[in-house]
Amino acid sequence: MRTSVSEIAVEKGVKTPPSEIVSKKRAVRSPTISREIRLVSRPHGLPVPDNFALVRVELPLPEEDQVLVRNLFMSVDPYMRGRMNDGSSYVSPFQLDQPLDGAAVGEVIESRAPGIAPGDIVTSRFGWREYFVSGAREVRVVDPHVRPLSAYLGALGMTGLTAWSGLNLVDVKAGDRVLISAAAGAVGSIAGQLSKLRGCRVIGSAGSPEKVAMLVGELGFDAAFNYKDGDLPGQLKAAAPDGIDVYFDNVGGEQLEAAISAMRLNGRIIACGAIGGYNEEAPVSGPRNLALFIGKRLTMKGFIVGDWFDRMPEFVKEMKVVIAGGGLVMKETVVQGIELAPHAFVDMLRGGNIGKMVVRLTGENPSAAHAGD
Ligand SMILES: NC(=O)c1ccc[n+]([C@@H]2O[C@H](COP(=O)([O-])OP(=O)(O)OC[C@H]3O[C@@H](n4cnc5c(N)ncnc54)[C@H](OP(=O)(O)O)[C@@H]3O)[C@@H](O)[C@H]2O)c1
Repeated sequence: MRTSVSEIAVEKGVKTPPSEIVSKKRAVRSPTISREIRLVSRPHGLPVPDNFALVRVELPLPEEDQVLVRNLFMSVDPYMRGRMNDGSSYVSPFQLDQPLDGAAVGEVIESRAPGIAPGDIVTSRFGWREYFVSGAREVRVVDPHVRPLSAYLGALGMTGLTAWSGLNLVDVKAGDRVLISAAAGAVGSIAGQLSKLRGCRVIGSAGSPEKVAMLVGELGFDAAFNYKDGDLPGQLKAAAPDGIDVYFDNVGGEQLEAAISAMRLNGRIIACGAIGGYNEEAPVSGPRNLALFIGKRLTMKGFIVGDWFDRMPEFVKEMKVVIAGGGLVMKETVVQGIELAPHAFVDMLRGGNIGKMVVRLTGENPSAAHAGD
């Protein structure tokens, strides 16, 4: 894991950008100072600024077989909310007073590892910090020419792999009528477009008129509706009069119940996420119409994207062809600066994002500035 760091300043309750910022010159020449976000208390309901602290740390020099990396982008994801609780889950909880972690893409500044050179672009699990020192095996060197580089957190990263895995899980194929919830978000927007490319009729639900318009106007969904307008069965009936064959469930709750009622014979449900309940203190109620599974011969399959990591090369190869052919619109919402990472996270949980929510950790546009373009 990461080499130990010396803590030099702690700023609790991350609300506004601090005045002290690591200078660009220092960042490039001698990046020994980094800032990181730590969890200092466990949230109840939606996280608040006082759950986080911005901490300045001094990094050690990389040792043999280690690299020093400057993060360019970091990801904020719904599963991180679960890790902020103290319960056991399929992934371990975040520790208090320790930096958060998650997916990031960065540039190697110094390397003492064979096969990795300064300037290389790498992905890692060391998000929520500006710089890090790690073993070479904890980073993955990626193609530096991909644009934007944040795509490694979205379409070409865990997000895209989740969408792709979910569709493969229930063998989504031409002719399927597919409903996707949280459709304007990171996973949903990719899952919808991949479904269209497979020849499906695609319906999306999202939480604002702008998102609904974007799904149909920009991403090519056949229909979309705003779940906040209510009457889910009625809206679903209007969008999919003959019912649906596949439901890509990102939210659970009432939308899952409405989808079950709209499923056709032998329908398949992809249990990807249940974000509607992530901030609830008590377990949320399940659908009241589970008996419909029997007569309709429905199947519901859950999955965790980590189980599909061994298929990453196959997925990336396929996605690069789709992207090169102009077949995918990669939507993202970019927030600038480590100090606003907690805000970006909470805003994503509230639906403030369109496409993948990412935090840019450098002042310049890293995708444009990277050498070798
Ligand atoms: N199984 C896996 O391995 C795996 C991997 C990655 C992600 N996931 C799951 O996939 C889902 C989407 O993740 P993502 O990274 O793509 O996030 P995202 O969709 O980019 O962002 C979350 C979205 O959820 C929607 N939302 C929030 N509260 C809601 C509620 N009460 N009811 C309905 N929608 C709500 C918001 O959009 P609106 O404005 O439309 O409400 C928000 O933009 C999450 O449930 C996540 O946990 C699962």
